[in-house]
Amino acid sequence: MSVFWSCFIIVITAGMIVGCLWLLFANARGTPGESTGHVWDDDLREWNNPLPRWWLNLFILTVVFAVGYLVFYPGLGNFGGRLGWTSTKQMQARLDEITAKRKAVYASLAGKDIPALAKDAAAQSLGRAVFLNNCAGCHGADARGAVGFPNLTDNDWLYGGEPEQIVETVTHGRHGVMPAIGAALPPEAQQALLDFVPYWSDAKLDPARREAGMKQFALTCAPCHGADGKGNIALGAPNLTDDIWLFKGGREGVQQTIMKGRESIMPAHESILSPDEIRMVASYVYSLSHGGDAHVAVQDSKP
Ligand code: HEC
Ligand code: HEC
Repeated sequence: MSVFWSCFIIVITAGMIVGCLWLLFANARGTPGESTGHVWDDDLREWNNPLPRWWLNLFILTVVFAVGYLVFYPGLGNFGGRLGWTSTKQMQARLDEITAKRKAVYASLAGKDIPALAKDAAAQSLGRAVFLNNCAGCHGADARGAVGFPNLTDNDWLYGGEPEQIVETVTHGRHGVMPAIGAALPPEAQQALLDFVPYWSDAKLDPARREAGMKQFALTCAPCHGADGKGNIALGAPNLTDDIWLFKGGREGVQQTIMKGRESIMPAHESILSPDEIRMVASYVYSLSHGGDAHVAVQDSKP
């Protein structure tokens, strides 16, 4: 603050305190029984009684408090107060305290692998906090996903659900591309696929339809989705046989996928999260599909 503004504030603050004292003492004395001469509604008179003593003392106490406060804490322009207190220092001290606590927790978890962390309540509480702050916006607070955003609780994985695979997904991100491959096929081939792919998991599907579909599938789709249609984690090509759909299922959804293609991006988090945070959130995700009751218990405890 410049010298001018500092002086300006000191003058106003000191002036206010002096003004308060003056006002108090100027009004402290009165003459009991004497009227000020002000009369309202014919008979409502204002008496010139002095302030009650206890009341006056209370006011004086507040002035003393104000002076004491200004000596020890910042309030008079650039004068920082004898204690050297600032809000920035106070916040930094709180932050250091939290960081130290967190470091200690991370240190105590350092030796555990992800399946072990998934069963550790402290790790799950940290992981859940990271999840809610960084992942819930896309995958949902309950991690059940939405159209185009995979459900992370169902143990059906595009890129694999082993600890290292989850860490890899979160650290470096993923980019799934399904080309608009159907648009290049003759109409009979499109029909054969649409008569079959949406109903793959249906055991009652007409065998002739299945066979015709399979034939076309082997030609155009198997390189990515696998000959058995169970997907390929190297490409993030979904399993098409389990009736779990990342996008819309049914004939219409599948038609849209193969005619227009699909593209999804899971952003990399290596520049946003520390390796410790990634380990915690990966263990949380791991717990969701590995019977971990840890996350259920954690929901009620504060992170
Ligand atoms: C901007 C949206 C977005 C955010 C934020 C996001 N994700 Fe994702 N995530 C996606 C999408 C989209 C996919 C699917 C990518 C694909 O199909 O290629 C995905 C895929 C994944 C997968 C792979 C699922 C599988 O079946 O293999 C995991 C695990 C995952 N995310 C975890 C996380 C975690 C943990 C976070 C927070 C640290 C997070 N995601 C933040 C959009 C997001
Ligand atoms: C180049 C590899 C590639 C080929 C070839 C390919 N796909 Fe895909 N497919 C993918 C990928 C990767 C995704 C996931 C896209 C995403 O995450 O955005 C996908 C997604 C899909 C989906 C959406 C699944 C869901 O759960 O919603 C369907 C349906 C599908 N493919 C069907 C087919 C069919 C039918 C063919 C053959 C005509 C085919 N794909 C050929 C890579 C491929």
